[in-house]
Amino acid sequence: MTNLATNFAGLKLKNPVTVGSGTYGFGSEYKRFYNPNILGAITSKGMTLNEKEGNPPGRSIETPSGMLNCVGLQNPGVEFFAKEHLPKLKEDGCTVFANVAGKDVDEYVEIVRFLDSTEVDAVEVNLSCPNVAEGGIAFGTDPKVVEEVTRKTVAVTSKPIIIKLTPNVADIVSIAQAAQNGGAHGISLINTLLGMSIDTKKRRPVLSNTFGGLSGPAIKPVALRMVYQVYPHIDIPIIGMGGIVNSQDALEFIMAGAQMVAVGTGNFVNPLACQEIIEGLEMYLEENDIEDINQLVGIAHK
Ligand SMILES: Cc1cc2nc3c(=O)[nH]c(=O)nc-3n(C[C@H](O)[C@H](O)[C@H](O)COP(=O)(O)O)c2cc1C
Repeated sequence: MTNLATNFAGLKLKNPVTVGSGTYGFGSEYKRFYNPNILGAITSKGMTLNEKEGNPPGRSIETPSGMLNCVGLQNPGVEFFAKEHLPKLKEDGCTVFANVAGKDVDEYVEIVRFLDSTEVDAVEVNLSCPNVAEGGIAFGTDPKVVEEVTRKTVAVTSKPIIIKLTPNVADIVSIAQAAQNGGAHGISLINTLLGMSIDTKKRRPVLSNTFGGLSGPAIKPVALRMVYQVYPHIDIPIIGMGGIVNSQDALEFIMAGAQMVAVGTGNFVNPLACQEIIEGLEMYLEENDIEDINQLVGIAHK
């Protein structure tokens, strides 16, 4: 008998596998492949207080072993999610992490306060967004701001707050520690790496926003390095992500220190990736006579 169940930030989950926000919508598109309730948790598309159209076309392009996107947080707004999507996910028996974004600290606080009265199980706070009050620099690049947003969102909810960090910083450890100091119950590592592509016929940037986020297998070594670096310096659990496409990738993140793993771009290439990863983790435990997946968390450090 093997155990894939895990306890993440006080939540009992059937396995440590979730999805990267923005790569799984609100779950319905994947229902024809498998019931999303097989996942430890589903993580929603990033939501703002009000509906958002996102950026104009020229929003994604494939790159070697990955993709660039500048979707720009297109979403129906958090109230619509609570009314239309959340009840269906709950009916299906899913554990739901709601991913949220804001243009300023007040918007983060307001969304989290609103979600507190809903059935979401945890809130993942995406700090890769531009901070309008600070001239558009991402919230997640300044430890003081990370601590402030964390503290203020934790204060308005009884749900676990997971702080999702941007990798576009010099010192990821101090940023993760700032989230912990603010009272975060977990952190997600990593969001996309800033990149760009140029159309040589048009002699213009491909993406309408000029820059976009690089994701997929191309970023896996960077993401893994950040999880490995942060793990010994914090006491709260980590959701590791960045280029995970199979159970071997997932195991690397777990061994680096991730309590949970998320599959993002991998879902676009293989919609069954999450299901196969859950099966692959189980098989690894059986083949190696390991009773409990949690025994492997951070084992590469020992
Ligand atoms: C098309 C697309 C949309 C995304 N939207 C969001 C989002 O709304 N909120 C968020 O926190 N991360 C978002 N992400 C980042 C992913 O959740 C994930 O952190 C990142 O892509 C790295 O994982 P991966 O390499 O497995 O895709 C998005 C990524 C992609 C590719």
